[in-house]
Amino acid sequence: MSAPNKSYDPVEVSALAPEEVERARDEALAAIAAAADLDELKQVRLAHAGDRSPLALANREIGALPPAARAEAGKRVGAARGAVAKALKARQAELEEERDRRVLVEETVDVTLPWDRAPRGARHPLTTIQERMADVFVSMGFEIAEGPEVEAGWFNFDALNFKPDHPARTMQDTFFVGSEDTDLVLRTHTSPVQVRALLERDLPVYVVVPGRTYRTDELDATHSPVFHQLEGLAVDEGLTMADLRGAIDAFVGGMFGEGLATRFRPSYFPFTEPSAEVDMQCFVCRGASVERGADPCRTCSSEGWIELGGCGMVNPRVLVACGVDPERYSGWAFGLGVERTLMFRHGVESMHDMVEGDVRFTLPFGMEI
Ligand code: PHE
Repeated sequence: MSAPNKSYDPVEVSALAPEEVERARDEALAAIAAAADLDELKQVRLAHAGDRSPLALANREIGALPPAARAEAGKRVGAARGAVAKALKARQAELEEERDRRVLVEETVDVTLPWDRAPRGARHPLTTIQERMADVFVSMGFEIAEGPEVEAGWFNFDALNFKPDHPARTMQDTFFVGSEDTDLVLRTHTSPVQVRALLERDLPVYVVVPGRTYRTDELDATHSPVFHQLEGLAVDEGLTMADLRGAIDAFVGGMFGEGLATRFRPSYFPFTEPSAEVDMQCFVCRGASVERGADPCRTCSSEGWIELGGCGMVNPRVLVACGVDPERYSGWAFGLGVERTLMFRHGVESMHDMVEGDVRFTLPFGMEI
């Protein structure tokens, strides 16, 4: 840097010469115009308008001029720096606009593209409703019990008081595993778990058994060779059919809402005595569709009642087969159809929908857990 001048000699302060200032300005303007993006412009700003740029350095030289020469030089450098600053500002605005425009295009989101590449799926409504049904009893203090789906014939039939010639034991109804003498079957109901529960647990026993069952039915709108039941078993001192009725009423209230009647119709099962079929009042029409001239009801086919399943007092022979003293203990049991419950509770019209595994069927039921 030059020392203060005593005698003014324009050659000594060549940075202030008009052509030098012009050159520095023109170089700056050319570089600004050539800056292709904001990063480049930043470099250009540093080189041509920063503290160490030729024009800034020239500006600092002004002080060294004799007072008479300062004004003119100051004006010249000031004008050049002003022109550079103005060009920088304009180019900055231009490049920012360009960048914004480009970003808008580059970062465009195509809202019509499929968004869900890993769809969450849904639980099968049979699983959900089975858990719900069981939950009503769990809330009354029942425990969940389980048993194998490949079951010994003894549990599935003998211990439940099926006589050897009972028609249910034939090939017509039962899937045998291996030959008939292996005595292994796919369980035809969840009732064998009654026997397992009584053998495995201490009395009193209060269990519900949700599970898969098998019968040699053809798949059609109302039948499937694989279906589900919810078994219930209570064995305690002093239990009566009134307790069974109360439990069924609580189940209907818990699943379908309060105020619906239930009814027992006499029936027969080898493992309960007496036995009944249990119906509930239709929760849609509440029986009104039975009246002559009333609107038909799709849920109960205008019967007014919906069949829930079978039930009864545990046959003392079953208690004896399980080592329970029938003089001291009594019990009741029920078996409810899970598919049937799903069909009328949710208006599912065909068994096919439940077994075909089409996600469009399960999705509307959602992820309820
Ligand atoms: N196991 C019987 C059936 O599958 C239902 C049932 C269970 C009946 C318990 C009475 C008691 O049809």
